[in-house]
Amino acid sequence: MRLISRSLLVAAAMTLPLAATVQGQSDSPYQSHLKARQGFMSIVSFNIATLGGMARGNIAYDAEAAQTAADNIAAIAGVDTSPFWPEGSDNGALGDRTRALPVIWENPEGFGEAWTGFRTAATGMAEVAGGGLAALRGGIGPLGNSCGNCHEDFRQSID
Ligand code: HEC
Repeated sequence: MRLISRSLLVAAAMTLPLAATVQGQSDSPYQSHLKARQGFMSIVSFNIATLGGMARGNIAYDAEAAQTAADNIAAIAGVDTSPFWPEGSDNGALGDRTRALPVIWENPEGFGEAWTGFRTAATGMAEVAGGGLAALRGGIGPLGNSCGNCHEDFRQSID
């Protein structure tokens, strides 16, 4: 009797979190994946806004702030985001909650190359951002292009 009730308790303890997970997924498939990758992009975007603002002269150049922004981008560029992109989480399957195009999964090599280009540009920017406005301006083009290269092929554009 005691044994049965204990195993029932164990079973209940194991079922509850599982039920919660399944419930969350059926409500909104891949919601946490979308949050993770869109949050990743938001962090990148937040930091490049500082660098772009300085490059354009809209924000006064500040070596320390520039270096922080560039270091943040380089650090997050080092994250392996592959778990955020499960097959079946494209905008064809999930609709307008994501702008990830199916071509990401049809052309994984191309997607991987776009990541490599971004990482290279992010590292390059981190090497120069604190070294003066001219140096920062030299790094912003390649970095901005690395976003655009990927978005052009792999992200749904909003017209
Ligand atoms: C290797 C591909 C790739 C690179 C590199 C990349 N992005 Fe993205 N980005 C995407 C994809 C795909 C999406 C759509 C994600 C989704 O909606 O699920 C996206 C979405 C975004 C979003 C929208 C996030 C949201 O809340 O929906 C912003 C902002 C963004 N990217 C900025 C940037 C910036 C800035 C850079 C470069 C510094 C960059 N991205 C580099 C592929 C990339």
